[in-house]
This record gives sequence, structure tokens and C-alpha cells, in this order.
Amino acid sequence: MRIGVIGTGRIGTLHARTLSRNREVGSLILTDADPARAQGLAHRLGETAAPGVDEIFRWGVDAVVITTATSAHAELIGRAARSGLPVFCEKPIALDLPGTLQALAEVESAGTVLQMGFQRRFDAGYAGAREAVRSGRLGRLHTVRAMTCDQSPPAADWLPLSGGLFRDTLIHDFDVLRWVTGREVAGVYATGSDAGPPMFREAGDIDTGAALLTLDDGTLATATATRLNGAGYDVRMELAGEADTVVVGLDDRTPLASTEPTGPPPADKPWPGFLERFGPAYEAELNAFVEVVQGERPNPCDGHEALQALRVAEACEVSRRERRPVLLAEIPDRARAL
Ligand SMILES: NC(=O)c1ccc[n+]([C@@H]2O[C@H](COP(=O)([O-])OP(=O)(O)OC[C@H]3O[C@@H](n4cnc5c(N)ncnc54)[C@H](O)[C@@H]3O)[C@@H](O)[C@H]2O)c1
Repeated sequence: MRIGVIGTGRIGTLHARTLSRNREVGSLILTDADPARAQGLAHRLGETAAPGVDEIFRWGVDAVVITTATSAHAELIGRAARSGLPVFCEKPIALDLPGTLQALAEVESAGTVLQMGFQRRFDAGYAGAREAVRSGRLGRLHTVRAMTCDQSPPAADWLPLSGGLFRDTLIHDFDVLRWVTGREVAGVYATGSDAGPPMFREAGDIDTGAALLTLDDGTLATATATRLNGAGYDVRMELAGEADTVVVGLDDRTPLASTEPTGPPPADKPWPGFLERFGPAYEAELNAFVEVVQGERPNPCDGHEALQALRVAEACEVSRRERRPVLLAEIPDRARAL
């Protein structure tokens, strides 16, 4: 199998390494808007670099992995769909609903596969939480607390391209909240703070955000995120039910210090970032994509799932901007509604 990888930055490098190690993958063709970057990675992995995206399609591949900046995802998904190729694409599909719906329409009309990069679905902790909900161990679930805390802020020039904290970061919490609980979000009330470094304000973004979400069975959830968590990279989810409580992301690397005299000691080596924390999950999702392309397993996260997570993020943005609760029913889920 030959796979084209478009975008060889941080996450593209990681995914290309995983694919290069996979025995079912014969070869990779790598490309990037910065050709030297693709060439350097191709050289390190013993793979081939292409001068541009056109060559990926012209030279012929069996599948495409899209790990460019988000602004290029939708167009590339459409192009791959029109070529009849299965696609793995990093989240999100696009920064807005019209772009997302257009890309999904192309995939649907071509009848091709689109697997989205929500790697938390492949994390052992989140899988355990899903099992705890499904098995009935928690009893009736009443509260979920989700959080994503980045240790260091991103570069200032990257912020305006990110789509903002809800679409870029909390979208992971929204996706995995749906996956773990098996429920849809019915309504949100969200707010944010830009009291940190001025670059967030200047980009029209926030450095810290919080959403209160009501699920369609009445379960309450909170999802919070910050770009400024000095202690380390902290991603957790607590699920509390009438019978038991479980937590994802609590281990000897959680950047959390107890103030209790009898509390556990602080982590020696707190998680520094997503690449370390979710390394095994990223690897598992790319290996799963190879199996999807081979027809050996169903798609674990299709474009509809990404659309639902984006709709929650959109609802949060509306709520934050208009300072009011927003029902998911207000957010379009079809192109004709826009
Ligand atoms: N799933 C996750 O946890 C996760 C983590 C990080 C990033 N991401 C997503 O992955 C994507 C890439 O993020 P990153 O952190 O690797 O960014 P990055 O800036 O490190 O890399 C992006 C690369 O894409 C290239 N590029 C941009 N537009 C292109 C185009 N039209 N054609 C070819 N190459 C192009 C850039 O030159 C750059 O090398 C983003 O959509 C981001 O949201 C997901």
C-alpha cells in the first residue's frame, strides 16, 4: 500500500513515522507547502518526497493522510474524495460549518472513507471510561468534568488560524464526551477569559474557556481548557454516577500537587504536551486507518462525528459571544439550513 502524507509539520511527522513503521504500508509519498520540510522527513524515514500536492494525486496512492494547517483540510478532503481515495484527516475538517458540510457532501457523494483524527478514542483511559459507563458500573451518570490544559501558549501568529479555543482544543473534549457517554449534547452555556497575554485578545481569542453542557439524557458536564497551565499538560475527565466515580488522565505524570499532608507526591516528570501524553493513541489511530483502508475494520471516527463535535464548539462560540445559553438545535447540521 502506498500512502500520501500532505503536511509534514508536528503531527504530520508523527503520523508519517507511524505509517513508515507499519508493515502493511509499502511506501509513503510526503509533501508540504515547505518542500524542504517534506524532503528532510523523507530522507530521515527512507521515503519519497513530492514537490507538491498535485504529484501525490498524479503519481498514484492508495490513501491520503492530511496533516496540513486546518485551512487546507476541506479542499484536500474534497480532492481525495473526487479521486476515490480513502482519507485520514486531522481535526477539524474546517474552521466553519459551511466548509465542513461541503467537504462531507463531497465524501458522501463519492462514497469514500473519511477517518477523522480524534485520537482520544484510542487512549486506554478514555476507553476504560467508556466501558465503565456502558457496563453500568457507574450507575446513572450524573456529572462529567472534562478538561484540557496546555502547558505553554502557541505562537502568536498561529492563533488567528486556529479557530479559537473551543474549535481547536475543546473540540477534543466535546468529541470524547459524546464517545464516552454515548449521548448527544443538547445545550451549552459557555464563557471565556482573555486576561492573560495580550496576543489572545489581539487574535479575538481567549486563553481560558469553560462550557457547561447538558446532555440529551439530562447528564451535566463541564468542559474547561486553558493555554497557560504552568504545571504541565493536564488532560482529564471525571465521570461520576450514582454507584461509582472514575477518572481519566490521573497517573504518576499528572501535573497536580495535593495540598493535603497525606496527599500523593507531585509528579516527578509531568506530561509536557500532547505528543507525549497521547503517543500510543496517535499510533493506534493511524494503524487503525491502515486496517480501514484494507477493509479489515469499520471506520472508527467518520466525518459525521467531527461535524457533531464542531457543532458543539460552534454553539459554545455563539454562547460566549452572545452571553446566553444555546441549544444545539440552533446550530445547522445540513448545508441547506445555512
Ligand atoms: N489530534 C491532535 O491532537 C492534533 C494535535 C496537533 C495538531 N492537530 C491538527 O493537525 C493539523 C496540523 O497541525 P500541526 O501542529 O502539525 O501544525 P504545523 O504547523 O506543525 O504543521 C502544518 C504543516 O502543514 C504545511 N501546510 C500548510 N498548508 C499546506 C498546504 N496547503 N499543502 C501542503 N502543506 C501545507 C505547513 O507548511 C506545515 O509544515 C492542524 O489541523 C491541527 O488542528 C491535531
